[in-house]
Amino acid sequence: DFIKVFAPATVANVCCGFDVLGFALDQPGDEVWVRQKESPGVTISAIEGICGLSTDPAENVVGIVAQKMLRELDVPFGVELQLHKGMPVGSGLGSSAASSAAAAFAVNELMGRPFTTQELVPFAMEGERLASGSAHADNVAPSLLGGFVLVRSYDPLDVIPLGVPLELYCTVVHPQVELKTSLARSILKKDIPLQKGIRQWGNLAGLMAGLLKADYSLVSRSLHDEIFEPERAFLIPLFRQAKEAALEAGALGAGISGSGPSIFALSATATQARQVEQAIQQVYANSGIDLNTYVTQV
Ligand code: HSE
Repeated sequence: DFIKVFAPATVANVCCGFDVLGFALDQPGDEVWVRQKESPGVTISAIEGICGLSTDPAENVVGIVAQKMLRELDVPFGVELQLHKGMPVGSGLGSSAASSAAAAFAVNELMGRPFTTQELVPFAMEGERLASGSAHADNVAPSLLGGFVLVRSYDPLDVIPLGVPLELYCTVVHPQVELKTSLARSILKKDIPLQKGIRQWGNLAGLMAGLLKADYSLVSRSLHDEIFEPERAFLIPLFRQAKEAALEAGALGAGISGSGPSIFALSATATQARQVEQAIQQVYANSGIDLNTYVTQV
């Protein structure tokens, strides 16, 4: 009698779109199960696939999201949640976002869809606020809406699903070291030199145009981040070598997935994406660092 919802991992930033751009993968992802209960409020009755996450609804992203929605809807009953983690936390693949998105979608289904999927984004963002200290939407929006999603503005929130016509494949390599988004954000410089800003918004506009005009060359020329990637690269073992290997193997572009440590690369074909995967695996071959890798169509 549970409603079961899957929400996928996501790649946020996509090089030049820090906090404003992300896309969804097919897998991995998390499941949230939900059913009605008579007593009011939210309980988390089980967490599977991972250890150490709190079942206190005020300390777990799925609980926070459900509580916000119940408060908004003012219903005379409560909800029981189960979280089935299918992906590692602190991976840079939007793990907390997938849980938050799945919770928002599941509770909305249970309630008879009072909200559109777009309207669920602010609820899911509350999970991100708990998990990372900042309510960014560049993971939750694509996890909920699919494909590439632009967050044009946070205030007011303006979330644009892009409907990209281009065939793209994503290689994701997750070196198994845990990196907290809050840490990877705390080390960033607060000011951006004008020259770097100009290059960044040129690239972001170029990436948007390339995706929507289905222009691989323009996408490739635009996949750069000269602001945040250099500041974060030291947090990820062998990042520079892995990125170089991906580009040498023919990727259109590569960078840090979200706040890392996962590395993503985009390719025009599935074969290319597999070659990129192998090239990055080679880099880590004798490093003693274990990898999870995923290749999916975007
Ligand atoms: N845009 C966020 C960051 C994504 O880079 O900090 C975190 O997954």
